[in-house]
Amino acid sequence: MARTAVMVVEGIDDGTWVPHLADVLPGFDVRLVADPDVADADADADADAVTHVVMWKLPAERLATYPNLEAILLMGAGYNHLDLETLPDVPLIRLIDPAMANDIALYVLSWVIHFQRDFDRFAAMARTSTWRGGVSPVFTRDFVVGVFGAGVIGRTVLDTCAQHGFNTVGWSRSEHDRPIEQFFADCDVVVDLVPLNEATRGVIGASELAALDDGVLINVGRGATVDTDALLQALDGPLRAAVLDVFDTEPLPSASPLWQHPLVTVTPHVAGRSDPVTAAPVIAASVAALRADALVEGLVER
Ligand code: GLV
Repeated sequence: MARTAVMVVEGIDDGTWVPHLADVLPGFDVRLVADPDVADADADADADAVTHVVMWKLPAERLATYPNLEAILLMGAGYNHLDLETLPDVPLIRLIDPAMANDIALYVLSWVIHFQRDFDRFAAMARTSTWRGGVSPVFTRDFVVGVFGAGVIGRTVLDTCAQHGFNTVGWSRSEHDRPIEQFFADCDVVVDLVPLNEATRGVIGASELAALDDGVLINVGRGATVDTDALLQALDGPLRAAVLDVFDTEPLPSASPLWQHPLVTVTPHVAGRSDPVTAAPVIAASVAALRADALVEGLVER
């Protein structure tokens, strides 16, 4: 009799992933790996039966102990924290969960409205108890929201902002209608969602921020795609504000000047949260598609 396939799940949070995955994957014995750094006897007892791993950062040595592994499914959208060279040579699927994309889009939309409606400027005036003139309204149709790195999540951000009447423009390496600096110059807000790799490290630097001029940078992608020194310098100049959910080092070190900067809002990497309730069916669909040799959304090119 065929053995039940085992799915091993990395226990990075409160353990809610296992019941949600078990619900939608009845053919699997879904088990938790309690601590990625400590061998877990229970999960390892039948290493030969493990066919799928749902993880964020299980070490490659751990994955190598599963000789019949068919696929690795990530609990998040990014994968720059993994060394692809060392991972077993099986399909690696990043999580493309529409609910997570919507979460990110609403985070962005709330800030876009904040700046388009001049709430930052009115708050500064309120601190002096005087309404000063000189703030003429920019109507929604004229407020340009650009997504730098317009992939699957970026397109959700663009659609959400467009549905609310904003003027939107996307830029991705494979699809753009203007050079990068022109793109930054054309935007009131740039939303950074560009994936981090060697080509994009520090890609938003002095010249892009100078082109953005008195616009706003929102980073919900990866911290290291922005040159932080250049950002701080731009904020000393015309740049209006920055909203940062991601950083070179996370959690943000307490010595960072970003914490206290009056023009910077920091949040602790919460723009898009992985939710096992919505992610589990997406993962189950990927498992089924892989087994049927069908196209799988989120397949990482290796
Ligand atoms: C979070 O940053 C993710 O990649 O899902």
